[in-house]
Amino acid sequence: MKVFNLFPLTILQNKIHIEEEERTILVNEIKKMQLQSSENTKSSYAWTGDTKGHEFLFSNSLFKNLSKKISSIIIEYLNLLEINTNHLDIYYQRSWATYTEHEQSINFHTHSQSNISFAYYLIKPPKSGGIIFRSNELQNEVAKNIFTNSKLEKSLINKANPYNSDRSMFDLDQDSIIIFPSKTPHATVPNKSGLPRISISGDISIMLKDSKGFEHLMPNFSNWTKF
Ligand SMILES: [Fe+2]
Repeated sequence: MKVFNLFPLTILQNKIHIEEEERTILVNEIKKMQLQSSENTKSSYAWTGDTKGHEFLFSNSLFKNLSKKISSIIIEYLNLLEINTNHLDIYYQRSWATYTEHEQSINFHTHSQSNISFAYYLIKPPKSGGIIFRSNELQNEVAKNIFTNSKLEKSLINKANPYNSDRSMFDLDQDSIIIFPSKTPHATVPNKSGLPRISISGDISIMLKDSKGFEHLMPNFSNWTKF
């Protein structure tokens, strides 16, 4: 017997090495942002810099070294998809930190305004919560909602596996980075470590250097006309 799994969602995981001294500097910078803009009342949701006025983290020179390392892994992801980066201008459209305290999490969402997104774990204590990806298009859904949790509980589905699941969780170590298409719904698992988790996220936009003859990818914005 042969089984073919067609049309995958591709998630890339890699590791980034930074010096501990650099980590301390970045953590302190993020804590400053978080303290400036966090509400007094404790929320069940993590602090996310993109919605708190800190959405251009990589324009801060302290993050330059890290952003360079992330850039090379983004290129690896594009290479994996066989997208010829010679044709592209690639931009960090937004970049921000997230600060997740004990019991906090982030609900399902997408970053539909960009092409590729990532999360890098600057501080990731054990049990501080993984990332969950969800698919809204289940190719193997032979009957509507047959793979929902209730069917698992009622033993109609024997056990969850990659063929019948609409979600998958990654609980990665500190210094891991995960890269995914921006339109993929994702959420975080509540932090159960008693310690903060700090990640750095970003959205990447790709556009053609020269759009002559191409229809679908974004033409270079240097040619746009502002009205
Ligand atoms: Fe996100």
